[in-house]
Amino acid sequence: LPGAEVLVVSNREPYIHNRVDGEIVLQRPASGLVSALEPVMRACGGTWIAHGSGSADRDTVDRNDRVPVPPGDPTYMLRRVWLSDEEQDGYYYGLANEGLWPLCHISFVRPIFRDEDWRRYRAVNERFADAVVQEASRDDPIVLVQDYHFALLPRMIRERLPRATVITFWHIPWPNAETFSICPWREEIIDGLLGSTILGFHTRFHCNNFLEAADRFMESRIDREHASVTLGGHETMVRAYPISIEWPPSALAGQAPVAECRAAVIGRFGLPPDAHIAVGVERFDYTKGLLDRIHAVDDLLGTHPEWRGKFVYLQAASPTRSKLGAYSALQAETVRLAEEVNARHGRDGYTPIVLSIRHHEPTEVFEIFRAADLCIVSSLHDGMNLVAKEFVAARDDEQGVLVLSGFAGASRELSEALIVNPYDTRSMAAAMDAALRMSTAEQRERMHLMRDMVRQRNVYRWAAQMLLDAARLRKRARILA
Ligand code: G6P
Repeated sequence: LPGAEVLVVSNREPYIHNRVDGEIVLQRPASGLVSALEPVMRACGGTWIAHGSGSADRDTVDRNDRVPVPPGDPTYMLRRVWLSDEEQDGYYYGLANEGLWPLCHISFVRPIFRDEDWRRYRAVNERFADAVVQEASRDDPIVLVQDYHFALLPRMIRERLPRATVITFWHIPWPNAETFSICPWREEIIDGLLGSTILGFHTRFHCNNFLEAADRFMESRIDREHASVTLGGHETMVRAYPISIEWPPSALAGQAPVAECRAAVIGRFGLPPDAHIAVGVERFDYTKGLLDRIHAVDDLLGTHPEWRGKFVYLQAASPTRSKLGAYSALQAETVRLAEEVNARHGRDGYTPIVLSIRHHEPTEVFEIFRAADLCIVSSLHDGMNLVAKEFVAARDDEQGVLVLSGFAGASRELSEALIVNPYDTRSMAAAMDAALRMSTAEQRERMHLMRDMVRQRNVYRWAAQMLLDAARLRKRARILA
């Protein structure tokens, strides 16, 4: 799209400046959305509009709230939007994370819908629409709207900039129409999204769920043949674009050989030197199936006592959204359960489950992946899950086994993983046992195929497919005008 102006809008920013002991420290957030999109922006340039959430964010922007990034080697602009505590409570913690997040993920956590949150959500969407207009230097930008924080934004942009191309990507699942219908603002949300030129989901299944909802709740025309929805004379393409990671991953550059990573991780987390290491890396989120996974470890050590003393499970968990009850309760329960299992199977000098509860930067995450014999991604429900793809990308030695939930979008592409039902503790334990016993030759064959898949379907391809579709639609609009 030569000459086109690209603007991205997301809630989470790609670079967070925090003040720690008087010093400004740069943080890369734990967010699949950010890991996917940041390399694309580094390659394409443009402006990324996001909430400035860091304690030193205001000290690092210019008069227009902009900061060139990546720091040190800037290729695009980050424009920060400031949100008051009330705005964050209503829009981010409330409607987005207590309402839409549990609504869209099947993890049996009840969504909470409050009028007040909805009003704030709408108001914050308006504020980002204003920021888009401010940042756009022409009347036909390409705006990439990201995720469930901004369901109303596509329509607001269309009203303000009718010639804009709005590509909206929904990073989480879209539930079936019956489930979605419990949302008191279902019509407004679908209407907001139908301001998009293109609306993307990870899987065809989620696209179909959305089409079904549009069909049931809106006065719209659904064209199933071309997967599009027309409302009020405006057509929105609804397409599946499975998201991915950059290839080669920048966090892999400069990594030590696998044996050295292993030694470093064993030293840092105090693991037994000859242990078989399983790892899990995620945000502390109830959709990730952390408790079920600890139950599975318990089961493994109970039914296969030969692994006691030889197997450790290292969980890197970054605290997230901790203000919310469901999140703080999960953190407390995870710690409690891990202690209980450790008391049951551990002994002096042997702790089967090691929790590392803090932020982990991408290079450390890759080092952990390289130290692992197996990686467990047992999300109860997940749009895609990029941890699975990052693990595969980290293993240029083609060793290591991926145990992957069948309810993560990634399982559609990484079919050489050991696919599990995360609710079925017994079979998860069996999969871990199989992974621990898998021959290096079989590990290599599986890993080779999965790496091929991630290399080919990398995030540049994800972005290119959406932008090519957008380019075609822009040309068509010009012809028809
Ligand atoms: C998921 C969402 C992203 C979000 C990330 C981290 O991947 O789809 O939009 O950025 O979680 O969550 P947080 O609330 O910390 O941004």
